[in-house]
Amino acid sequence: PLPEQVKIVEVGPRDGLQNESTPISAVDKIALIEKLDAAGIDYIESGSFVSPKWVPQMATSTEVFEKLNRKPGVTYAALTPNMRGFEGAMAVNATEVAIFGAASESFSQKNINCSIEESLERFAPIMDAAKSANIKVRGYVSCVLGCPYEGDIAPEQVATVAEKLYKMGCYEISLGDTIGIGTPDKVIKMIQAVSARVPMNKLAVHFHDTYGQALTNIYAALQMGIKVVDSAIAGLGGCPYAKGASGNVATEDVVYMLNGLGIKTGIDFQALLKAGWFISDKLGKPPISKVSSAYLAN
Ligand code: HMG
Ligand code: MG
Repeated sequence: PLPEQVKIVEVGPRDGLQNESTPISAVDKIALIEKLDAAGIDYIESGSFVSPKWVPQMATSTEVFEKLNRKPGVTYAALTPNMRGFEGAMAVNATEVAIFGAASESFSQKNINCSIEESLERFAPIMDAAKSANIKVRGYVSCVLGCPYEGDIAPEQVATVAEKLYKMGCYEISLGDTIGIGTPDKVIKMIQAVSARVPMNKLAVHFHDTYGQALTNIYAALQMGIKVVDSAIAGLGGCPYAKGASGNVATEDVVYMLNGLGIKTGIDFQALLKAGWFISDKLGKPPISKVSSAYLAN
């Protein structure tokens, strides 16, 4: 059975823009975020507090959070790899933070310069500080359906890392197909393994659309009981440490599918399309969304 309602976690301003080479000003990022919350999205990952040498596009995150006009009830989240990042996010009142680990050792090394075990050690003080400050922490697991360096990743390995993040106190675990390589059969096996150790209602899916499989994979996940879907407006981005990874599945495509299925999201579809056209115009390229292109043409 499909859910009646799905929560969209909009990651375009972070996951999307972090891999766009055209610099986007803080002012334009803020305009994008404000268009997204005007469209009714109530969770927006708005930036990250990581090394600007590693991810230059996120260097303006402090300014973005500082100058943002916040809509009540909306979560403006930040990615934080270590205590320094957490402190940066708290200094500008991010609503909540996300820590990000991986199910693949090689990807962990390339992305955050440490092993999976070391990453969990770096996350521990963030969990403690967040608990004292009453800040919610979301946890990501990358490479859940395959790794650009190691190939196949065992569902059990994904489950092990997801369970560790959950037991550390993450309220939700987002399962990332970082390189968009999975197919529905793999999604089903992976979610079966993870949901045996972390409750289904604590899981989200985060699929990149590199191989055009994201919508199908999301549909498979919804049928299994997943109710939270990460996506990026206009299909922005990719991942700088996963070569060839294209953007996240486009929010427009996901919402179109959910609307067709009669699943509620609370999102104003026309306003959503406009947010996508706005940022695509700033990037000087068309939206990577078939749905958005179809509406543009008609
Ligand atoms: P490190 O080299 O292990 O740590 O990097 P370090 O403490 O030795 O610091 C190295 C440099 O970074 C130093 O600067 C620090 O000052 C600076 P330098 O001396 O070279 O000038 N630094 C920082 N700067 C700003 N904010 C900070 C911070 N911490 C250290 N918080 C580190 C470790 C994690 C910092 C580094 O590897 C890094 O920033 N990596 C970037 C990770 C990243 O943002 N990746 C993309 C996001 S993850 C993703 O997209 C996947 C996801 O979408 C899910 C999916 O799709 O699967 C979430
Ligand atoms: Mg991602």
